[in-house]
Amino acid sequence: MEKRKRFVRACVVFLLAVLVAFPSDMAAIQAKAAGSTGKSKILIAYFGRFGNTNFGKNVDATSSASIVLNSGKKQGTTEYLARQIQKQTGGDLFRIQTKKKYPADFDKLVGKNHEELDQNYLPALKTKVKKMKQYDIIFIGYPIWATDAPQAVKSFLKAYNLEGKTVIPFCTHEGSGSSGTYKQIRKLCSGADTLDGFSVNAEKVKTKSTQEKLKSWLNRVDVKSRSAKAVPITITIGNRKLNGVCYNTALGKQIMKKFPLKVTMDEFGGREYYGDVAKKDRPTKKSKGKLGFVNGDITYCFENDTMAIFYNQSDQPDLSMRVNCIGRVTSDLSVFDKLDDSVEIVFDYKK
Ligand SMILES: Cc1cc2nc3c(=O)[nH]c(=O)nc-3n(C[C@H](O)[C@H](O)[C@H](O)COP(=O)(O)O)c2cc1C
Repeated sequence: MEKRKRFVRACVVFLLAVLVAFPSDMAAIQAKAAGSTGKSKILIAYFGRFGNTNFGKNVDATSSASIVLNSGKKQGTTEYLARQIQKQTGGDLFRIQTKKKYPADFDKLVGKNHEELDQNYLPALKTKVKKMKQYDIIFIGYPIWATDAPQAVKSFLKAYNLEGKTVIPFCTHEGSGSSGTYKQIRKLCSGADTLDGFSVNAEKVKTKSTQEKLKSWLNRVDVKSRSAKAVPITITIGNRKLNGVCYNTALGKQIMKKFPLKVTMDEFGGREYYGDVAKKDRPTKKSKGKLGFVNGDITYCFENDTMAIFYNQSDQPDLSMRVNCIGRVTSDLSVFDKLDDSVEIVFDYKK
């Protein structure tokens, strides 16, 4: 009897060891492997050739542009970037996989991709994110294929209701940059707030300068503020009414208490409108802030008690004073190019 017990115990230990050594691609297990609690508000979903192709065993990081080595482990280029983002933001990793694998041969893959594009064919996916509802922020990563996002990414985005979420694209490429893909993704994620993303040339994905750029971009994105619930607001400038969101953070709540909040703002540097906040409307609970922004950010600066709307990275994307993210203008930002130098802006709840 004792012998049998020992045998069963040995089998359980062996099975556990196998599970730890060879994690499956299932989303939940990926999330565990990435150190997530399973309760994160951030999802980092990515697609790439690696994991969607039966590469032969002899294909390695030297013979394929789509494989990089991370601490001796083979990974896809976009996957590598996804894992770097996960390292810095926490969150759950999810590999987008199609039911049918793509051809390993590069030319055949190019042909297959053109066929899918021409027919606007959306390939069926193998797995689904189980609790999409729990995520407020969805990073979506992909390689540029034919100056476009792969069709599998479109299948993924179309499979969920992303209303009220913040979608943040990132991509890898070999020269064509992000092309028009952020705009396309914005169109596919109706009701979500889609930010402009981060793109990197595959050749440079592992360099120190990319790591620094990624860190600086993530700092500008300010995932922490954006993980709070986004309350729909309006931003009225004369007869123009823009849509936006205010994050339900400690700062956002203080600002929303003052709605309708009127601020006279002046243009500065081809990148922002900013203006003093009246004493009676100033928030009291301070936060640290950041020295950068993403386009559309509505911010508060505790150093000079001003609010700003940033509409263009311009050639001065780094700030000399820290600003705190309150919310974001989600309407088309080109309006700001046509405004007078000084305008009265009213922030209010969307009715
Ligand atoms: C079918 C296909 C089409 C591609 N088209 C482009 C392109 O139009 N522009 C570009 O810069 N890179 C292009 N690339 C290169 C990939 O974007 C680049 O190698 C990417 O980093 C691969 O990421 P992955 O390893 O995660 O799949 C293409 C690659 C493939 C396989």
